[in-house]
Amino acid sequence: MPRSLTFACTACGNVTSKWSGRCEACGEWNTIVEETPLSTGPEKKTLGATRGARLQLTDLAHEDAPPPRTGSGIEELDRVLGGGLVPASAILVGGDPGIGKSTLLLQAAAGFARKRLTSLYVSGEEASAQVRMRAQRLGLSDAPVKLATATALRDILTTLETEKPDLAVIDSIQTMWSDTVDSAPGSVSQVRAAAHELTQFAKRRGTAVILVGHVTKEGQIAGPRVVEHMVDTVLYFEGERGHQFRILRAVKNRFGPADEIGVFEMTGQGLQQVSNPSALFLSERDTPAPGSVVFAGIEGTRPVLVEFQALVAPTPHSQPRRTVVGWDGGRLAMILAVLEARCGIPFAGLDVYLNVAGGLKIAEPAADLAVATALLSAREDASLDPHTVVFGEISLSGALRPVGQTENRLKEAGKLGFSSAIAPERSKTGGSALTLRPMRDLTQVVGEIFGAG
Ligand code: TYD
Ligand code: MG
Repeated sequence: MPRSLTFACTACGNVTSKWSGRCEACGEWNTIVEETPLSTGPEKKTLGATRGARLQLTDLAHEDAPPPRTGSGIEELDRVLGGGLVPASAILVGGDPGIGKSTLLLQAAAGFARKRLTSLYVSGEEASAQVRMRAQRLGLSDAPVKLATATALRDILTTLETEKPDLAVIDSIQTMWSDTVDSAPGSVSQVRAAAHELTQFAKRRGTAVILVGHVTKEGQIAGPRVVEHMVDTVLYFEGERGHQFRILRAVKNRFGPADEIGVFEMTGQGLQQVSNPSALFLSERDTPAPGSVVFAGIEGTRPVLVEFQALVAPTPHSQPRRTVVGWDGGRLAMILAVLEARCGIPFAGLDVYLNVAGGLKIAEPAADLAVATALLSAREDASLDPHTVVFGEISLSGALRPVGQTENRLKEAGKLGFSSAIAPERSKTGGSALTLRPMRDLTQVVGEIFGAG
């Protein structure tokens, strides 16, 4: 019987029977590739009348001890994991190539090894000598981490079965190759098969398995999204290559809070943790500049102050540019539309650039008001008082909504020398020393802060 062709999306793993330019599931372009189907054996029989084992059922009130955890000694990492490494868990660490995943995980493996967890590091990308050289440069040579270079999944699993380590790092999942699947390493089926085998091994033997996944833009190899649903914890390592700061962000965690971040700085000696990042993303702000606004944000459990920078200039093109770094482009379009429709401030014929200083990515809707203020400040060429922080969510009507953790935002801003805050009315201040300038809607902001409208 000729095998029918299947196609899979390298971004999200969705499988279809025909090729198309755009993935129906995730909407990405040019990510659909031909795949050999997973089952290569004879047609499977249905379960039929053959009986299986009866399941053990329990009730909800069943008491379980919380999972034991081990810290790596790298606090920023341990917090993102939810308080340390959980045995038998599968963790995916995704990120752009060259962002520092191998560096971070070698440091983590060494940290756990020093806490007496037997640690194994399998590199499918670098020769052992290269990894050793890196370890030397990072001052980790003394840590009892066992090292191997391999890509054959069968060999790796056999080794893991005999070694039974507490922690296994697989760098990277896209280089792993299973001989039961006849498609190329990095393809959706290979990545999925390798991730499946390794997570099953984690559950079976109690080993914590960390998988490294490269984020890919070209769609030639399958990205980490393909395995996100198989693992317990998904962490993304982000940052701008040109900046020294790196953020480790939990986007899914069965053993802890999602949305927690860990902040690191890439130095000549590897990644150094930054335990108090709240002032990190403020640029040198001696003179007030138009378009610059400080947002009092919350990342995970911690307040972080971030500078938004906007530039608005007449466009030489028929279609004005909207360029965003560190924030959502769709949300920028929404705020521009609200400013135009509710406050009568048009941005047609103007190029708009928006940047988050320091390479941080902000996803909080609480940043809406900071973005709007930065845009207004840039457009009106009027700088905001440099000792003011801004936060608040904007609705389509132009009204401002209070946001969570207002007290924490104000407290941190106060600590860093800010004296006033522009925030939605009805925000809980918790007796903060900052002067609060409560705002009802965007029109009031335009009128009172920029004296226009
Ligand atoms: P790497 O961990 O290899 O990235 P990934 O595994 O995500 O592809 O690190 C990539 C970059 O980090 C590399 O270009 C050099 C830089 N780097 C430092 O700046 N300092 C260091 O101590 C190390 C080990 C790497
Ligand atoms: Mg690497």
